[in-house]
Amino acid sequence: MKLGFLQMRCRFGEVKANVKKASTLLSKVSDATIVLPELFNTGYLFKNRAELGKLAERVKDGYTTTEMKKIAKKKNLHLVFGMAEKSGRNLYNTAVYISPKGKVEAYQKIHLFDREKLFFDAGKSFKVVNSGEGKLGMMICFDWIFPEVSRILTLKGAQILVHPANLVLPWGQEAMKTRSIENGVFSVTANRIGTEKRGTMSLTFTGGSQILGPRGDLIVSAGDRSESLKVKNIELSEADDKNITSGNHLLKDRRAPLYTSIAKSSGRK
Ligand code: ACM
Repeated sequence: MKLGFLQMRCRFGEVKANVKKASTLLSKVSDATIVLPELFNTGYLFKNRAELGKLAERVKDGYTTTEMKKIAKKKNLHLVFGMAEKSGRNLYNTAVYISPKGKVEAYQKIHLFDREKLFFDAGKSFKVVNSGEGKLGMMICFDWIFPEVSRILTLKGAQILVHPANLVLPWGQEAMKTRSIENGVFSVTANRIGTEKRGTMSLTFTGGSQILGPRGDLIVSAGDRSESLKVKNIELSEADDKNITSGNHLLKDRRAPLYTSIAKSSGRK
């Protein structure tokens, strides 16, 4: 199958311009599964929940989903992208999957990063989407630092971790190598580039989008300055081989009864 990412620069609050840019760039490829950054349509540095509420959209029939469905259909693309979701009174940092036929699935970010906790509601469930091309385990940016996420997605059958991101810490891309190796899965991290400034707030996104293989091999990556659309052919069945030596299987060798303290330890509900 063909797997790729779109690394892009986004402008805060300019949903139409961001969606149009993504759509124009995506029109250069076809017949592939492509991952875009987290919150690619709105930008990241919200001042408060009211501002987020004005920019957030319904996943099912909002502007962003409607436009992305058009390009997915036209170019036979499976798309995964990050957007701000409004669902009743709740606001989520969401990754959306769209198939060429218009099927829509959503994952609401479970582990909110830093100021995101001021505005977003946290998601409560994991999501693996069977696209027909591959089984996509959905995670968003800071979810990378919790190995439980990629493990649970793998146990639910994921073959590819699809990872829209707005990475600002220096370790995310490197850590995803371990997430791929420990689970024997492909991963696609799609990051932003550029600096976003809002009043006294400023963040620089680290680029370095990448596709990794199930043994952590780098299949392709982008730099930290330019927009970049990369698509590669992968052999998906490589993610089904969990034998790490002739005597070790990544999943069957787990000692789950010894791990119960992880689930019981203190933390958020
Ligand atoms: C992040 O989770 N956006 C760093």
